[in-house]
Amino acid sequence: MSAIQQSKVTVVGAGFVGMTCAQRCAQEELAAEIVLIDVLEGRPQGIALDLDQAAAIEGTGTRVVGTNDPADTAGSDLFIVTAGRPRKPGMSRSDLLDVNGRIVGEIAEYIRTGSPEAFVIVVTNPLDIMTHLMRAKTGFPSKRVVGMAGVLDSARFSWFIAEKTGTSVVDVDAMVLGAHGDSMVPMERYCTVNGVELSALCSKGDIDEMVDRTRGGGAEIVNLLKTGSAFYAPASAAVAMAGSILRDEKRLLPSACFLNGQFGFEGVYTGVPAVLGKEGVEKIVELPLTTEARIQMQKTVGEIEADVAKLVELGLL
Ligand code: LAC
Repeated sequence: MSAIQQSKVTVVGAGFVGMTCAQRCAQEELAAEIVLIDVLEGRPQGIALDLDQAAAIEGTGTRVVGTNDPADTAGSDLFIVTAGRPRKPGMSRSDLLDVNGRIVGEIAEYIRTGSPEAFVIVVTNPLDIMTHLMRAKTGFPSKRVVGMAGVLDSARFSWFIAEKTGTSVVDVDAMVLGAHGDSMVPMERYCTVNGVELSALCSKGDIDEMVDRTRGGGAEIVNLLKTGSAFYAPASAAVAMAGSILRDEKRLLPSACFLNGQFGFEGVYTGVPAVLGKEGVEKIVELPLTTEARIQMQKTVGEIEADVAKLVELGLL
């Protein structure tokens, strides 16, 4: 385990994703202090107390503080924003646009005023649009506002590949770009098992099946749980991104980034391969895309732009 990071991290939202993010941050000693904030009275305080007591057993030195007061988040180096309603069975992520847009707008306000130098990792759905809103409302440089989804979607693809090919998931590298939604773009040609291409390990039909399952990966869990959405893998993904920024690891992680001409898109957030380090998004890696992948990227970006336009209609942007 690396030395405790002398930083302050705030996790916004003490639902399952938020509390699991706080737990992972504490166990990795990613910060000296973690603030867990929620509008529900008692819940963040209770989780923080439980985590601080777990630290006595884990032998970790991070202190977790639970609060309902945005003033306690001031001076944070990094925010992981998970607050918002999760999907119910049958809902698309875009169905959450209005309700979560209002929540993200309020959070952006206290981040902007209390922690003007912070990095922000957005997890709230619909992911790409909420990340767009967070950047617009904070006015932060886009390299400091990034969305979590590609790491999660790639992890889902990796697991399906490992399961299908009978190989260890630690050897699987998978990449998924585009929106965190049904139009996401799994990049089969960049998926390997320890360097071995997928086509050597399974059939085209198998790959197509895994791509479909990856696209519906979040909904599959929503339908199983019935009362919430996935939280372990989303939290692992958000904390991997936070670790790369705070420890300057410069990991290349698919992340929702603001595109300024890259991949031929302008002024829109979507999932692309990015190097995350102490400056935030330090580099966006422009991969050559096949014609099919380019068409899929255009579709995914078109859907995000349509949802951003809805935010404007709702008066949230
Ligand atoms: C999922 C939610 C977090 O994909 O969007 O599980």
